[in-house]
Amino acid sequence: MPIPERLKPSFTPARAAELDRLDEARKRLIVALDVPDADTAAELVHRLEHTCQWFKVGMELFTSAGPQVIEPLIARGHSVFLDLKFCDIPNTVAGAVRAAATLGVRMLTVHALGGPAMLEAAQAALVDLNNPPQLLAVTMLTSMDQDQVTAVGLRCSPAEQVELLARMGLVAGVRGFVCSPREVATLRALTGPEGVLVIPGIRLAGAQSGDQKRIATPADALHHGASYLVVGRPITQAPDPAEAAEAILGEMAEALCN
Ligand code: C5P
Repeated sequence: MPIPERLKPSFTPARAAELDRLDEARKRLIVALDVPDADTAAELVHRLEHTCQWFKVGMELFTSAGPQVIEPLIARGHSVFLDLKFCDIPNTVAGAVRAAATLGVRMLTVHALGGPAMLEAAQAALVDLNNPPQLLAVTMLTSMDQDQVTAVGLRCSPAEQVELLARMGLVAGVRGFVCSPREVATLRALTGPEGVLVIPGIRLAGAQSGDQKRIATPADALHHGASYLVVGRPITQAPDPAEAAEAILGEMAEALCN
């Protein structure tokens, strides 16, 4: 929860500035609710709701719990990122994007690999809406290293592929992208300050990477131009998820003042 303005004068200026930075960090941290069912998600949100503002609903939770898992999150004042990574023919993706927008989510994903026509259709599906969600094109999964990229037949590095897809997305009218921390600086230079760059693959120094290959710390990702950080297991599988989130928010807040 943001700190009410009326409470701030009792703090020293230094403490008030620190709380402002924590507020800013909270607006930029997205917790991935990669859990098997609605009850587990509700319990996790209950433990995190005084610490975190954004929650990401991905394919595991959405598939098991259905669209109705989103409404209670919004009703409790949270912002929801629907990460279903649509990739299909343009007409089908446009319909799915419109349907997702009616759920009240603030961000949603499509795969950039769906191509320019699909991206244009996805973006066009949102133009007539009031206060539409931010469309994000996923460039390349953060779990893909050079071996994985080569195995799907691409003759370039992950970084080159991400840049190519982002350039293609920009031409198609997309202004939001998901990429790994390693490519965020390149994409920030491409999009300018108005680009929305959402970055998974975030780990505190020394933490386990799991299946993620292209990772960085919260501070590094922010310094290179990330708009939002997505963190799943380091928070959701911690013995105390709120404490784990606070550690990440603390590093983010510190990075925001440098
Ligand atoms: O648990 P962890 O922090 O690795 O979770 C990262 C989250 O970000 C997962 O929900 C995953 O689906 C998502 N994601 C990703 N790489 C992308 C796009 C989304 O890891 N390129």
